[in-house]
Amino acid sequence: MVSSTTQQQPPVSHPTTTARWWSEDSVAIVTGANKGIGYALVKRFAELGLTVVLTARDQSRGLQAMDSLKVLGLHHHVRFCQLDISDPASIRSFVSWFRSRFDAFDILVNNAAVCFNAMNENSMDHAETVINTNYYGSKQFTEAILPLFRNSPSMSRILNMSSRLGTLDKLNNPQMKAILGDKERLSEDRIDLVVNGFLKDVKEGRWRTQGWPEIWTDYSVAKLALNAYSQVLARRYEGVVSVNCFCPGFTQTAMTDGKGKHSADDAAEMAAAIALLPPWHLTTGKFYAGSTTRGICSKL
Ligand SMILES: NC(=O)c1ccc[n+]([C@@H]2O[C@H](COP(=O)([O-])OP(=O)(O)OC[C@H]3O[C@@H](n4cnc5c(N)ncnc54)[C@H](OP(=O)(O)O)[C@@H]3O)[C@@H](O)[C@H]2O)c1
Repeated sequence: MVSSTTQQQPPVSHPTTTARWWSEDSVAIVTGANKGIGYALVKRFAELGLTVVLTARDQSRGLQAMDSLKVLGLHHHVRFCQLDISDPASIRSFVSWFRSRFDAFDILVNNAAVCFNAMNENSMDHAETVINTNYYGSKQFTEAILPLFRNSPSMSRILNMSSRLGTLDKLNNPQMKAILGDKERLSEDRIDLVVNGFLKDVKEGRWRTQGWPEIWTDYSVAKLALNAYSQVLARRYEGVVSVNCFCPGFTQTAMTDGKGKHSADDAAEMAAAIALLPPWHLTTGKFYAGSTTRGICSKL
């Protein structure tokens, strides 16, 4: 998990100022990309000359996003396929669509997420959906698409869009904190223990008193789980696939009712810089945060 000691990192270089290790044959997949940061990231990758697969759970919203890219003259770099990360049938059909058109891919950005609360609300009415989408959806999609990585350690990357709301210091439940903080024994089963414990507390109406994160609790628990899963993956695929997390900070999108300190384009620029770190500076198991290239970085 995210260590309590974050450090000011050397600035992540702007991708256009570093050597381009990628080409139009480099393929990136972005989930939840019909709007917000996901859409802005597809746009950024396309501007930088990668081939991008824009995915959206709703076919017509995805096609509208493609129309917007056409207006910008970027559609030649982008393909669209419907993908609902919370629906195993949709994941299967995406994988088969992808296999029929591409040999492999290089970058996966797990960006799709839901939040049912307005800015100052904290209802758990949709806790199960939030966990199933934001954690299990991203996990299931990652597992399904992993075999199609190009198998090039210097190029294969996963960037999980996360949040500082889901860092370990937001958790005040000693038992759950001990499970997620025990790096040696951390596993998918142990992450499930935490997630199931949270859902049980919600079901039994005692989630407010059990030390769970206080803001957007269901969303934060899902991001806690995603951060922990990223740590498991980073260790399992060390030297094979780079796995990092990124919190874009308070960004003006539908999720924040348009409020925020910066635009989705700003957040996407930073996300692209991390996803496109040059092979000779490639990191794994890191948590990046911030919307500028002077953001912070810590161990997962
Ligand atoms: N905005 C912020 O301040 C902020 C801060 C920290 C982290 N983040 C993270 O950044 C990422 C992007 O958020 P955003 O602010 O751009 O949010 P957003 O504008 O609400 O976009 C979320 C995207 O996810 C899609 N999505 C939701 N459920 C899905 C599913 N089951 N399958 C596939 N796609 C699905 C949405 O599709 P529909 O249009 O169909 O709903 C939409 O395209 C998220 O992971 C979020 O947690 C955002």
